[in-house]
Amino acid sequence: MKKITLILLTLLISASLYVWFGVYDIGANDKHWAVTSELLEILRDRSIKVRAENVVVPDNLRNATRIAAGAINYEEMCSSCHLAPGVENNELYTGLYPQPPVFYKSAASDRDDKEDFWVIKSGIKLTGMPAWGPSHSDEEIWALVAFINQLNKISADEYLKMTAGSTGHDDSAAGVDDHDNASTDEDSHQEAPAGQEAPAGEGDHQETSTDGKT
Ligand code: HEC
Repeated sequence: MKKITLILLTLLISASLYVWFGVYDIGANDKHWAVTSELLEILRDRSIKVRAENVVVPDNLRNATRIAAGAINYEEMCSSCHLAPGVENNELYTGLYPQPPVFYKSAASDRDDKEDFWVIKSGIKLTGMPAWGPSHSDEEIWALVAFINQLNKISADEYLKMTAGSTGHDDSAAGVDDHDNASTDEDSHQEAPAGQEAPAGEGDHQETSTDGKT
């Protein structure tokens, strides 16, 4: 008994020293060990599965109106991290760890509507995936669920057409007004001093986040 107490105490002190002396590298550049990644994925997947079980999917989820509404909000709120047809890469996607899944490259059969709804509404801790529930209605979230399920069937041209009307996402149902700072944010993205060209490859700043709300 004494021995066990001593071992536990040593472990506790070692763990405290490990934390206190900052031995753990919290930087996103320092990747997890394979076993840590696997454990975290199991933790995430089980947590989502259990919580999504009781979500009730609306009838006729993938109707044209929902998909069209989802497209506009996806471009505004999601494409900066999850990319979009015709957008192979960008700074946010490259720098995030874990890296966001690229929906337009994955099969619809890989998706689960209930789980997607839960994740979009609740977010995922310590990953960069925000919770959209506090600022959006369930109907707006379902529109996103319907849209990401179809994304791998949408060409770059179609995507541009579907999102052409995107001038700021429609929060009317959620009663959130975040359009006020749209113009100031826009200015901050077009800050290159006169006569100075934006560096090559930086053009997508203006495409993917023209209003800075992404
Ligand atoms: C700031 C970056 C960022 C934004 C913006 C963002 N996401 Fe994510 N999202 C992530 C990351 C990172 C993950 C992966 C988390 C992980 O691996 O556990 C993720 C995961 C997800 C997942 C789970 C996917 C899966 O297959 O497990 C869904 C669904 C999702 N996001 C949908 C969306 C939607 C819809 C939007 C827009 C409303 C959005 N995300 C906006 C970063 C983002």
